[in-house]
Amino acid sequence: MEETSSATMKAAVGKDYGEIRDMVEVVDDQPRPGTPREGYLVVKVLACALAPGDNRVLSGRTKMVQGPPAFPYVIGGDVCGVVHEVGENVEGFKPGDCVVARFFTAGPRGGLAEYYEVKATLTEHKPKTLTPVEAASLASSGTSAYIAVENTIKEGQSVLVLGGGGGVGTMLVQLAKRKKPSFLAVTTAAPKVVQDLGVADHVINYEQENWWEVAEITDQAPFDVIIDLGQGVSAWKVARKYNLLKSRGQFLTFVGDHHVLWAQGIFQIFQSMGPPLWRSAWTPCIPGVPTFRWQLDGLPDKREPLTNLFKLVDEGGLRVVLSNGSPFPFTTDGVQSAMEQLATRKAHGKVVVKVAEE
Ligand SMILES: NC(=O)c1ccc[n+]([C@@H]2O[C@H](COP(=O)([O-])OP(=O)(O)OC[C@H]3O[C@@H](n4cnc5c(N)ncnc54)[C@H](OP(=O)(O)O)[C@@H]3O)[C@@H](O)[C@H]2O)c1
Repeated sequence: MEETSSATMKAAVGKDYGEIRDMVEVVDDQPRPGTPREGYLVVKVLACALAPGDNRVLSGRTKMVQGPPAFPYVIGGDVCGVVHEVGENVEGFKPGDCVVARFFTAGPRGGLAEYYEVKATLTEHKPKTLTPVEAASLASSGTSAYIAVENTIKEGQSVLVLGGGGGVGTMLVQLAKRKKPSFLAVTTAAPKVVQDLGVADHVINYEQENWWEVAEITDQAPFDVIIDLGQGVSAWKVARKYNLLKSRGQFLTFVGDHHVLWAQGIFQIFQSMGPPLWRSAWTPCIPGVPTFRWQLDGLPDKREPLTNLFKLVDEGGLRVVLSNGSPFPFTTDGVQSAMEQLATRKAHGKVVVKVAEE
């Protein structure tokens, strides 16, 4: 790839809040990161994985908590790249190392560019068995999946995953299987994607059947754990109404009460975050009621989940699923198309943009 001058670089930017086709552009005049701060590295980006958070930031729906400090801002936060420069007090990395890093800002930003300053504590060496495009896709979605499974599922429990075909879901169901569940059921609009992973005991197409009425679900119920990657409060209500969870079972949702989160003002923050947070507070205190938990996007400032996940990847048995069309090219149309695919919520696998050749 032809590089721009040393002071500027090529980057995909959001020019303002708004629609993808109006506001997203690949430009070549963005300031290139200089010498990294203490505890940071500058990497030359090879691939950048996108997530629903990238569309949320652009939409302005969560501007009060995730908004960029100024426009234009660089889109994307999860990358695989080659270390270009190492800041002070960073150990274990040197120029030329191929690494994976995730964003450290309130919302994903800064990664879909030729160069990106990343935090050393959120950076790990790329798994040897993955390409940079595959490795980028694990940065925060793999971390989220790993943390969710570690904190929720115990060996031998029965598990139901709602929406297992997405960027987080395809990794989460594989990690869930490693806990040797007594039964693992998965709902998805992409049954073949999940079946091909070979981990589920039963796969249900939620677009064709009511998952709570399927014999394999009612026969296995009540479950120890339900993990919801995309449905929201209706799944919690159904699980309780039909007694699909054990009395001390756990319901973990990634989306709160609705997959569209609004946080443009105090009232909206209260309206969209209040009920699920309140439910998370009272359910653990009432005997006989399953526990409701919401995995919010804020991930810990720790490398450990990424290190553990990469070990599992290199030992074999975990597959990265990319969406149709991934990797998208690093052009205005390529980045817009990638973000549009994500917006459908039917990308099925990770949406990745290839920024440069290795
Ligand atoms: N990506 C990250 O790094 C990250 C980190 C933390 C939290 N999160 C949050 O986790 C959620 C999933 O993220 P993602 O990256 O996996 O998104 P994604 O790749 O866009 O996947 C969308 C997910 O929603 C599911 N879904 C769509 N419509 C559904 C419906 N009607 N009923 C049930 N499920 C439905 C999909 O299931 P099928 O594909 O199986 O149909 C899929 O799992 C998002 O809310 C995101 O903000 C993401």
